[in-house]
Amino acid sequence: MTTLYALGLGIGTKNSKGEWLEVFYAAPVLNPSEALANAFIKIVGYDKGNQATAITNSQAGEIAQALEGLDAAQNALAKNLINSKRPLVVTLIETDTNPTSVPEGYLKLHLLSHRLVKPHNTVLAGIFGVLPNVAWTNKGAIDVNELADHQLQARINGEELEVSSVDKFPKMANYVVPKGVRVAHTARVRLGAYLGEGTTIMHEGFVNFNAGTEGPAMIEGRISAGVFVGTGSDLGGGSSTMGTLSGGGNIVISIGKESLIGANAGSGIPLGDRCKIESGLYITAGTKVVMLDDTGAEVKTVKARDLAGVSDLIFRRNSISGRVEVVTNKSALQLNSALHKN
Ligand SMILES: CC(C)(COP(=O)(O)OP(=O)(O)OC[C@H]1O[C@@H](n2cnc3c(N)ncnc32)[C@H](O)[C@@H]1OP(=O)(O)O)[C@@H](O)C(=O)NCCC(=O)NCCS
Repeated sequence: MTTLYALGLGIGTKNSKGEWLEVFYAAPVLNPSEALANAFIKIVGYDKGNQATAITNSQAGEIAQALEGLDAAQNALAKNLINSKRPLVVTLIETDTNPTSVPEGYLKLHLLSHRLVKPHNTVLAGIFGVLPNVAWTNKGAIDVNELADHQLQARINGEELEVSSVDKFPKMANYVVPKGVRVAHTARVRLGAYLGEGTTIMHEGFVNFNAGTEGPAMIEGRISAGVFVGTGSDLGGGSSTMGTLSGGGNIVISIGKESLIGANAGSGIPLGDRCKIESGLYITAGTKVVMLDDTGAEVKTVKARDLAGVSDLIFRRNSISGRVEVVTNKSALQLNSALHKN
């Protein structure tokens, strides 16, 4: 009996050395049924573990046959791939562990962007080391080390190669556009982003991999890797959520439901539900915050990290004294008990 975590029938690009640069999975599957898994397993000679096997076009045909009457979508995909001019791969993931190959890493990024798993629900540790740096061009993915040759060749052919980015991660929209989203500038959303239904990413918005929105949401600010934004929240123009990939930060930031990070504001703490951060104010974990009750009286001074996850707070910088304050529509007593709960 073979129970798989995920599988994908992919079509990708290799460099001149035959190394994978990227893989496109039209229909990735999370927790496939045993019958579905077996249809692939018997063709690719899989034993166990996490494995990516390059297949020929005729093997795609054999897979299509094995899928006949079993899974219409996978069957149609396999049939289409028989005519592929690009390399094909079958990726089978038995255990959700650190990705160790390009096809495996890409399958996990697809699981996120296809909304099959939410951020933090698939293991991506070490993915930077696994994915190659790629020039993403109008002629597809090109190994950065081979770009100069391609550029020259394009000129010789009277053409120009358009390089839209040089990165380990491609734009999500070139792989999948999940239902019910708007993305004003596709280069701002990396593959591996999770965009919930009803999400709008405006031009200033950015979404990294393993990050995103539950949806609906209006995103005009940056969602760093690892950050997840709850339903009904807004990130104002130019706002920021602090990431953990660089700079030594290790608190994983999340934004609760119906919260607002004002324009040019930012959060370095996980925010609760119905919170607001005044535009222009950046809250870091160590920011000293004066808590005010509903009458404006001072309750006490805390570090912002102590308010992580507390709901119904409004953070602002007092425009007269310059100190950072947090106000609430709750009485001091309620606020204190909310704090202690956390
Ligand atoms: C922080 C914020 C949410 C407060 O808004 P609000 O709750 O509507 O508060 P108000 O502006 O009505 O102000 C309430 C009172 O607090 C005072 N106040 C507001 N901000 C203050 C500040 N920074 N310092 C001192 N007093 C302040 C007001 O003057 C007002 O005083 P009053 O009771 O004497 O009249 C708002 O200023 C803000 O920054 N919103 C973000 C909007 C945004 O960026 N959207 C995204 C667009 S892309």
